[in-house]
Amino acid sequence: MSKVSPSDGDPGDDNPAIDIEGLSNGFDGHLVHENLSLTVRRGEILGVVGGSGTGKSVLMRSIIGLQTPSAGTIRVLGRAVAEPDPDNPDSDIRSRWGVLFQGGALFSTLTVGENVVVPIKEFYPEIAPELQREIAGFKVMLSGLPPEAAVKFPSELSGGMRKRAALARALALDPELLFLDEPTAGLDPIGAAAFDSLIKELHETLGLTVFLITHDLDTLHEICDRVAVLADRKVIAVGTIPELMASDHPWIQEYFNGPRGRAAQNSRPAVDTPAPPVETVAKTANPKPVDKPTQPDA
Ligand SMILES: Nc1ncnc2c1ncn2[C@@H]1O[C@H](COP(=O)(O)OP(=O)(O)O)[C@@H](O)[C@H]1O
Ligand SMILES: [Mg+2]
Repeated sequence: MSKVSPSDGDPGDDNPAIDIEGLSNGFDGHLVHENLSLTVRRGEILGVVGGSGTGKSVLMRSIIGLQTPSAGTIRVLGRAVAEPDPDNPDSDIRSRWGVLFQGGALFSTLTVGENVVVPIKEFYPEIAPELQREIAGFKVMLSGLPPEAAVKFPSELSGGMRKRAALARALALDPELLFLDEPTAGLDPIGAAAFDSLIKELHETLGLTVFLITHDLDTLHEICDRVAVLADRKVIAVGTIPELMASDHPWIQEYFNGPRGRAAQNSRPAVDTPAPPVETVAKTANPKPVDKPTQPDA
């Protein structure tokens, strides 16, 4: 297995959306990340996979400044998240991304529309309340919810609709970057596929860069341009799924070439567009099939 070298070789890496180098994170002496590096290209949908507890959510929290790393640098949209923009010190980089946290995390005592208004109010208090509500209503529709969903409380919605409501809130500020932490977890396959289509459509129409944590193999096959694999406290590989499948790392083999991985692959129509250039993955001529009928990270 080769080492990840995120900055090598691809023009998309010259001005990345996210650039992480030498990141370390730990809790009470337990290291979650150690010298982790990762580059997310502008405009891509990057899937992030890894077993439960490998630090996917901690990685996302580090990028958006909710977790202070013990070492390393993180640059988002060209600047360090903790530092003010020298050209525009009043601008807040947090207004340039939207986040859908694991589990959705909507305010249960606010309606969907009020939930979407929260970030608008926080970052643009000068906008008149009526206009704030109008913007929120638009985001609700953009997320594929009927307009009447805006006046409902999260508890009145199905799981799939709650995810869409959380997505509407993540889109509230017209973000350039969208972070999604296991957005299809808990949805039935039809709901999950519909959510995937929505993400793909929004990615295309809004020109978003998407950082998508998921263990949903269908999602990975369906909408991700590349996939980053977290294991052994770092990103051990980044590439398209065919590139990853050529890796000999046991977790990658088990995940993508195991029964569920193969099923997900076969349920998709063949894609005949050429794969973008590889950046990191060691190529082994003949990946060994793995028979174990288990799937990491349920
Ligand atoms: N705030 C925290 N305090 C202590 N330990 C934490 C905290 N957040 C995460 N961890 C630990 O860090 C590891 C990675 O967590 P997480 O990023 O949530 O994993 P996952 O890959 O499943 O998203 C786990 O061992 C988890 O228990
Ligand atoms: Mg998580």
